[in-house]
Amino acid sequence: MVDLMGQYEKVKAEMDQAILNVVKSSIYIGGPEVKGFQEEMEKFLGVKHVIPCANGTDALQIAMMAFNLQPGDEVITAAFTYVATAEVIALLKLKPVLVDVDPETFNIDVEQVRKAIGPKTKAIVPVHLFGQCANMEEIMKIATEAGIFVIEDTAQAIGASYTFSDARKVSAGSMGHIGCTSFFPSKNLGCYGDGGAMMTNDDDLAFKIRQIANHGQGKRYYHDVVGVNSRLDAIQAAILRVKLPHLDSYNIARREAASYYDEHFNKSDRLITPVRDPKSTHVFHQYTLKTNGVERDLIPDKLAAKGIPSMIYYPVPLHLQKAYSDLGYKEGQFPVTEDLCRRVFSLPMHSELGREELDFIVAAVLEVVS
Ligand SMILES: Cc1ncc(COP(=O)(O)O)c(C=O)c1O
Repeated sequence: MVDLMGQYEKVKAEMDQAILNVVKSSIYIGGPEVKGFQEEMEKFLGVKHVIPCANGTDALQIAMMAFNLQPGDEVITAAFTYVATAEVIALLKLKPVLVDVDPETFNIDVEQVRKAIGPKTKAIVPVHLFGQCANMEEIMKIATEAGIFVIEDTAQAIGASYTFSDARKVSAGSMGHIGCTSFFPSKNLGCYGDGGAMMTNDDDLAFKIRQIANHGQGKRYYHDVVGVNSRLDAIQAAILRVKLPHLDSYNIARREAASYYDEHFNKSDRLITPVRDPKSTHVFHQYTLKTNGVERDLIPDKLAAKGIPSMIYYPVPLHLQKAYSDLGYKEGQFPVTEDLCRRVFSLPMHSELGREELDFIVAAVLEVVS
C-alpha cells in the first residue's frame, strides 16, 4: 500500500545524517530537533502553536482533556472513521454521539451534526477522511452558534488546505480550536515509528495542551492538573524535519497518481471514483473506490492473487463495533456509513507510484471488477 523504502532512498544521505546527529548529541527527549520541527511545522501550517506528542490517538485524547469536559458530556463524530476518534471520547467517560457521513465525500454530514446537537453537546470532532477536509465552513458555523469546541482529526489530511467562502485558504488542522494529527509511518507525513501533534492558534489552549502532555506540569515537579506522558522523541523529530520540506511534493505525487487512477476507473461502470470537494485540496491519504454492482468482498483476494495489495477502510462502522455496543446504536441507523463499509476498497497510494506500477494496478483492478 505504501513504499517507505522508495521514499527513504531519495533522501537517504540527509536522513542518515539527521538520525546520526541525534545519536551523537545524545539528546533523545526534547531538545533542538523537537523544537526545530515544532517551529517548522508552525510555519508550514500557518498556525501559532504546534505541540508534538507521541501519536495521533494521544493528540486527540489530550485535546479532549484540554476542554475540562465532564463525564457524560457529548462529543459528536462520524460513524465512518478510524476507531481512535471515538475511542478517546469513550476513554474519558464522555459520550460519543455518532452521525452519518456524506455519500460523496465520506466526511461527516453537517445536517446530521446540526440535528445531533443537544444540551450536553460540548464538542464536534470532524475527521478529514482519506485526505480531504470535512465541510469546515458549516461545522465552524454550527459550533459557534452552539458555543461548543471543534477538534479536527487531521491524521489523514496533513498538508491539505481548505478554502472558505470568503476566499480564506487555510491548512487542515488549523481551523478548529485544536487540530490533531498522526505521524504514523504510512501517513502523508510519517516518521519511522510513532508520532503525533496538536495544533492551535489559542495561547491558553496551547499552554494547557503542553501541560497535559507533560504529566500536568507547567513548572517541573509542580503538577497542576492530571496529565499524561506523551512526547515526540528527538529521532522522530529529526526524521520529520527531513521529510517536511517534501510534504507538498509528496501530496502532489499522490494527487497525480489519483488522477491517473480516476482517468482509467471512470471508464468502468462498476467503480465510482473519489469525489473531490472543490473547497478542499485532496491529499489522498487513501485512494478509495466505491464498487457498483460487484461483490466487494471478493476483490482483495483476487487482487492479492495478482500481487496487488488492497485494504478495506473500514469494514465495520463504529456504531456496530462490539466495543461500542453500549451506546445502543442499531444496524440501519447510519445507512450511508453502512453502505460504504460494504462497498469501498482502497488501492496502493503513496508518493512513489510510477506509471508502470499504476498501469499494472489499473489493468488488474479493471479485470477483477469486469
Ligand atoms: C483518522 C485517524 N485518527 C486518528 C488516528 C490515530 O493515529 P495514531 O495511529 O498515530 O495513534 C489515525 C491513525 O491511523 C487516523 O487515521
